[in-house]
Amino acid sequence: METLHVELGERAYPIHIGQDILSHLPGMIQSTGANGVIALVTDSTVNELYGDKVESILTQAGYTVVRCVMPAGEAHKRLPQVEAFIGEFLQGGMDRASLVVALGGGVVGDTAGYSAASFMRGIPFIQIPTTIVAQVDSSVGGKTGVNHAIGKNIIGAFHQPEGVLIDMTLLKTLPPRELRAGLAEVIKHGVIADEALFGHMEIHIDAILNCDLNALIIPVKRSCEIKAAIVADDEKEHGVRANLNYGHTFGHGIEAVTQYSKFLHGEAISIGMCAAANLAKDLGLVDQAFVDRQKACFEAFEMPTTWPDMPIDEVIEAMKHDKKARAGLLKFVVPDRMGHVIHRNDITEDQTRRALQAVR
Ligand code: NAD
Ligand code: GLY
Repeated sequence: METLHVELGERAYPIHIGQDILSHLPGMIQSTGANGVIALVTDSTVNELYGDKVESILTQAGYTVVRCVMPAGEAHKRLPQVEAFIGEFLQGGMDRASLVVALGGGVVGDTAGYSAASFMRGIPFIQIPTTIVAQVDSSVGGKTGVNHAIGKNIIGAFHQPEGVLIDMTLLKTLPPRELRAGLAEVIKHGVIADEALFGHMEIHIDAILNCDLNALIIPVKRSCEIKAAIVADDEKEHGVRANLNYGHTFGHGIEAVTQYSKFLHGEAISIGMCAAANLAKDLGLVDQAFVDRQKACFEAFEMPTTWPDMPIDEVIEAMKHDKKARAGLLKFVVPDRMGHVIHRNDITEDQTRRALQAVR
């Protein structure tokens, strides 16, 4: 097992990464000082696969466990689910000495994390991410929350976990499409911060697509290092943390006009990164070879790089409503070389339109 650290002073925490490492969970809980009932929060799919295993690790270590299961799927990442969890916490005898364990993908991590942030004004939680998205992105950095009818992740709080336990073996049951979509965030980390990571992805396509854990653990670990360093620098997203939004302004627009149903998030980000690379080329920051190299990588991982023929105006309108926009002004993260990005808030609607046109 290897351990990375998110350096946030009093709120610093470890990220443990390895294979078959769930047995470390009781030690992690012990080191937080929590000594009350433990909530094991998960979704229906992950519960079937791993709920009993994790609960028995906790009960054998002497903890009383209340298991809280939400239906799987983004549609359930809403406030009524938070209220339901908090009801279960109360019925299970939880108090301020209790701790939440979030076992699942980003939907579980965000919902459980926000429930922990809200319960009695905040109790500690530990993340056990079970998807690539959750391992390399959502479990690290303390963004928790749920969706509102008007927008994604509109209701939320920064609430850092006490620790993250990444057991790579849990990925063995992940559906291939979810695995591929999660890799978009890994490729993103390569483009924004580390050309070597991008190169690793280009070289190990087959092994990674086959979920070879020895090939996957390297980019997962490197992604966590990159995200941990960015979060340590800019926890509340006043500056460099926005680098993580590369491809997301376009991607969120495409997700919104396709009603969050045609593409998985990572698939929309793949298209969004292709649009952002075209924007960078239009701005003279990168050349066509850069655009082609990034696109070829997504294609090799069988991810979409173009979007359906829908009105561009609708996408641009949806982009303006993204919570990352300020007063309707779009902010873009664009690469100026492989492994490095800059921020631009002077992009015209025409330039935005051309970038979207280039990936149709
Ligand atoms: P998800 O949590 O919905 O998981 C995808 C599907 O895979 C679900 O059906 C789930 O039940 C299933 N699953 C999970 N682990 C499995 C496993 N090991 N084996 C088999 N099936 C498994 O989706 P996701 O892609 O992990 O997360 C997406 C969510 O994360 C979105 O809501 C997004 O907003 C959020 N997110 C948050 C942050 C953040 O910083 N907080 C960052 C990125 C994404
Ligand atoms: N997923 C983007 C962030 O954590 O800031």
